[in-house]
Amino acid sequence: MCTTSIAPGKVILFGEHFVVEGEPALAAAVNLYARVKACRRDNGNKVVVEKSAFGKGVVWPECFPEKLCFLREVIAKAAQLLGVEPWPGTVSIDSAIPPGSGLGSSAAVSTAFASSYLAIGGATLEPRIVFEAALAGEKYVHGKPSGVDIAVALNGGVIYYRRGEGFKLIDVGISGVKLVLADSGVERSTGEAVRRVLARKKVLGELGEQLYRVAGFLVEKAVAALRERDYVLLGTLMDVNHGLLNAMGVSLPLLEELVHLARERGALGAKITGAGLGGSIIALVREKDAEKVYHALLERARNAYVLELGVKGLTLQEGSN
Ligand code: MEV
Repeated sequence: MCTTSIAPGKVILFGEHFVVEGEPALAAAVNLYARVKACRRDNGNKVVVEKSAFGKGVVWPECFPEKLCFLREVIAKAAQLLGVEPWPGTVSIDSAIPPGSGLGSSAAVSTAFASSYLAIGGATLEPRIVFEAALAGEKYVHGKPSGVDIAVALNGGVIYYRRGEGFKLIDVGISGVKLVLADSGVERSTGEAVRRVLARKKVLGELGEQLYRVAGFLVEKAVAALRERDYVLLGTLMDVNHGLLNAMGVSLPLLEELVHLARERGALGAKITGAGLGGSIIALVREKDAEKVYHALLERARNAYVLELGVKGLTLQEGSN
């Protein structure tokens, strides 16, 4: 018996990093997907990866190559939550979400994997269990995840997320504007970026606390701007959010260049999205400017995308062999 699950990548529109310490974030599912097929097979007690961007390997009971070991954590958590021993199987992973680019690739893979693996174990797919199992994978990848990437992969849409409180769907139509994303091609570790920001917050003391509160307030303003379709304000808030991320030490000369290029070509606002120190930037543009900004960014970035926002979350196709 085989099951295939598909989960989308995400962009964080506002609040990355600050969300790790309890401030809200606004994030959206985007039309780039990870697909994980799992089959129940009698492999002894092994879970074997037959195909992935990191090559073939094994993720239970031992794990190799190292880049796949986050899946071992997902398996261990899933089995622990169900109070059973892990079950054997094979896995193949296809993902169109470039890793290390701030698009939530590991979260989408963890979520789709958790869903397929639980399904071939005959478990009822409770969102809470998929979430917790996938989050164990994210913890392995970067130490202190807020959970926002998993919440988006699971639920899709545009969400307002606060660690420990879960999420609210922000049910607004977005019209007349598009989001252009440019992947700098500088691969970075989310864990390193998170540690750097937390260390800087500590050094800043009370000022750090104040900056976090400002970042949280900014997210509330962004939600209101989105609801009112005030895209000029929304773009300006993106610029301010970028300034805060820069202040916390996660920008790079190339990211600054991309952000400024987007603004010069008419974007309403632009910022780092995700962990920074590499990865991607996003620019909010009027529809008529989308192609112009996209082509300008493509000249300096590894890749660029005009994204569809708020796509559907995790989906499951059962019964494939
Ligand atoms: C990474 O996509 C977003 C961060 O805020 C980390 C997290 O929320 O887990 C940098």
